[in-house]
Amino acid sequence: MSNKFYITTPIYYVNASPHIGHSYTNIAADTLARLNRKILGNDNVWFLTGTDEHGQKIQKAADEAKLSTGEFVDKVVVQFQELWKKLEISNNDFIRTTQDRHIRTVQKALQIVYEKGDIYEDKYEGWYCIPCETFWPKTQVTDNLCPDCKRPLENISETNFFFKLSKYQDWLIKYIKDIDKNPGRIHYIQPASRRNEVLSFLENNKLEDLCISRPIERLSWGIPLPFSCKHVTYVWFDALINYISAVGEFDNKNIYRSVWWDKGVKVVHLVGKDILRHHAIYWPIMLEALGIRQPDTIFAHGWWMINEDKMSKSLGNVVNPIEMVDKFGIDVYRYFLLRDVPFGLDGNFSQEAIIKRFNGDLANDLGNLIYRTLTMAEKYCAGIIPDLDVYKIKYDPSGENIKAKMQSLPKDLLAALSWNNDFSLALEKVWEVIGITNKYVEETKPWNLAKEAKEQQLKAFIRLLVQAIRTVGQQIAPFMPKTAEAIILQLGGREIKKGAPLFPRIEIKKE
Ligand code: MSP
Repeated sequence: MSNKFYITTPIYYVNASPHIGHSYTNIAADTLARLNRKILGNDNVWFLTGTDEHGQKIQKAADEAKLSTGEFVDKVVVQFQELWKKLEISNNDFIRTTQDRHIRTVQKALQIVYEKGDIYEDKYEGWYCIPCETFWPKTQVTDNLCPDCKRPLENISETNFFFKLSKYQDWLIKYIKDIDKNPGRIHYIQPASRRNEVLSFLENNKLEDLCISRPIERLSWGIPLPFSCKHVTYVWFDALINYISAVGEFDNKNIYRSVWWDKGVKVVHLVGKDILRHHAIYWPIMLEALGIRQPDTIFAHGWWMINEDKMSKSLGNVVNPIEMVDKFGIDVYRYFLLRDVPFGLDGNFSQEAIIKRFNGDLANDLGNLIYRTLTMAEKYCAGIIPDLDVYKIKYDPSGENIKAKMQSLPKDLLAALSWNNDFSLALEKVWEVIGITNKYVEETKPWNLAKEAKEQQLKAFIRLLVQAIRTVGQQIAPFMPKTAEAIILQLGGREIKKGAPLFPRIEIKKE
């Protein structure tokens, strides 16, 4: 395990309000940041998020809002910042691509690549998708429609600057393959299906050079190219640089310096599956051209759908994360997103599905275990947690099984999360401990032990339940920080502090 950890989310376009899809990545990144802070210490973890504020989409949204682009982005960015505050996301920094530190680094990076001969000027003629801000080669276009968004393409002809992606194609193929040979590593691009998708694309297509400029008369809202006053930078070349502009600088010898993007730091990018091509092809090549090391992992997660449909303004089905948090609480919302669908696959979002998880996993399983344990501790031990070391006591096979599962839990969680980001599996492991402990209560029938005056056995039993809950509390802290705190508050000391049930069942009203 490396001794430093740098984790990033995509930077979000500020053309519209944040929705649950955006909150998903930030919650996942927050969980990994919290887990790593627990393991490596606060000072060894850096968690970056931010906003992507240039380009056509933003300029258009500002025009529609009848505001200047600057005023518009300043207004929308607050919605993202407030959402992260509300969700108690523990990011260390928030980068905006309109900040000086970012603009400076983008211009410097462009200059370095230009001087190296990897950027050239050429005339472009062909198809362009305005909403996606993407040029499409003729070979990939049918019916004049954008292969991504299916909207009509424009035929344009203009002089632009191109970045030599093609020069690096073989290098990238080799890099992706070689990395997989490293012992202890899984994949550079994850999940494996995405890595295979990228590799097969690279092996079966010739990469076209990337157009990295836009003529100023068509788009003025962008970072000016340092070598042409007639062009601004293509928004993706600008945006990807945020991962390095936030944490370092180029020195006067054009060497990039950063404590977070350095040897021995584990660098992880979490992104949605729709922006994999940019992160797994453009970005690695940009870094290579700049002489900068690669990230360790680029993980593409799936999408949240609503009744199998995409969320979209036009369908009117966009879910606001603030409403979900107000209704269910931060931890329930986090638990649902991380538990319901393996990271990497698409999921269907619905309030019914949240309520189902809530009543099952949280109210029936976890909440009930805590509540019944506290009730027994009050009833049989006068609210004082028996001062016993469960690891020195010999229990029956079910009790021993709980001990073994508790002991292996931290290791199991690391195995699920250290490269795979399998949040769902990690939580399943925690719930296994909760499940067998609840079952143990039913099997042991403590009320009988009390009747038969088996005091020592009863105390050992209650101590084991308390230990199981404490272990669960410690292990779920990165996933559900507030619940972990509440558990520690109720059961952390020698004397219990029984509060109201943590997850009172939600009754579903029959319409
Ligand atoms: N600005 C670019 C990213 C630049 S990163 C250098 C961008 N922004 S975005 O706001 O359109 O999307 C940001 C992220 O939100 C993407 O990772 C995208 O996959 C994710 N999601 C958008 N809708 C989503 C869902 N419905 N579900 C899950 N994630 C989704 O792309």
